[in-house]
Amino acid sequence: MKTISEIRADFPVLSRQVYGRPLVYLDNGATTQKPRCVIDAVNNVYTTYNSNIHRGVHALSDIASEEYENAREKVRSFINAAKKEEIIFTPGTTGSINSIAFSFGERYIRPGDEIIISHLEHHANIVPWQMMCERKGARLRIIPIDDTGEIIFDEYLKLLSEKTKLVSVTQVSNALGTVLPVREIIDTAHSGNIPVLIDGAQGVQHGTADVASMDCDFYVFSGHKIYGPTGIGIIYGKEKWLTELPPYQGGGDMVDTVTFEKTTYNELPFKFEAGTMNFAGAIGLGSALDYVLSIGRENIESMEKELLRYATERLSGIRGLRVYGTSGRKIAIISFLLSNIHQYDTGLILDKMGIAVRTGTHCAQPVMSRYGIEGTVRASLCFYNTMEEIDMLGTGIEKVISMFEK
Ligand code: ALA
Repeated sequence: MKTISEIRADFPVLSRQVYGRPLVYLDNGATTQKPRCVIDAVNNVYTTYNSNIHRGVHALSDIASEEYENAREKVRSFINAAKKEEIIFTPGTTGSINSIAFSFGERYIRPGDEIIISHLEHHANIVPWQMMCERKGARLRIIPIDDTGEIIFDEYLKLLSEKTKLVSVTQVSNALGTVLPVREIIDTAHSGNIPVLIDGAQGVQHGTADVASMDCDFYVFSGHKIYGPTGIGIIYGKEKWLTELPPYQGGGDMVDTVTFEKTTYNELPFKFEAGTMNFAGAIGLGSALDYVLSIGRENIESMEKELLRYATERLSGIRGLRVYGTSGRKIAIISFLLSNIHQYDTGLILDKMGIAVRTGTHCAQPVMSRYGIEGTVRASLCFYNTMEEIDMLGTGIEKVISMFEK
């Protein structure tokens, strides 16, 4: 097992300075930093074998196609999907959900049908369903949350009915860190034959993301939040659904035969991969997953648990600091406000100390409305963060408070 210094040395950006101070990067919920192996993998595509995939008869195209398909297999194995054909590359979680919302809506949704989401969702798991509901005359139903930031399961049970055509919930709240009881959500929906989509954007990088044991119908995530490149993401879908759903986009490579009268579609997974895919991104994602496995998912989980414990203790001791999201089932996110200090002021002053946090609504405005606030300051940690960085955050926050007391 690598030491924390060895782990940090794998991520070139972590050793840089900001305003002459060491970078303290606590915005991993927004995007994670990249280990050298990912940067090298992408660099290697462009310096040694760049060529379009699935299209050429020449050597470089063969290499690129093979590496791209190897990356698909790495994703399959990482999330424990049954088949490679169930893994579709997309530009990211947002692209994945938009694609499913469109295709699912076209195939299955009729006026009066209902889709259930939760009050914890990121806008990417709200707006595509709203757009689909508007198009199809369907209705969005919302599972409420309690003050700790957990969904109220009894209310979920009340929402389920024969009108429900799909449940789409996040695995982990990006704004509060709450881990949702996805297994129970899925089992309950399945007892009424209702499929479930799990948004793994904030879940896949923090522990196990096993689609076989969850038994979800769809699972989506982004590469850039799991130490991979930007612009690449995943749809996992059970073969039965992907076979039945129509494609979201038309174009090259997703077709079998094209005439002006009629087009027939390619087989899975290519039916959903129109146009030149981000193959360099996919290959970089494959390398990121290898890296995560080399550290060990259980090790990552236990390191992050310890960071959350320490950060909660350190920050909760600060007078006037209120934490939003106090569930006992959380990932290492601390969303907070300081009394009488605007979240942007806190974020901007911390930035001048080299501490990167996110401020605002975190693309989850309904969560903020639930608490009657405009936004929070969010420190989102991952396994390469250290206790010293949490101390620096604590000291930084205390400085912000003292500046406003003057
Ligand atoms: N969804 C990302 C976040 O939570 C951008 O910050």
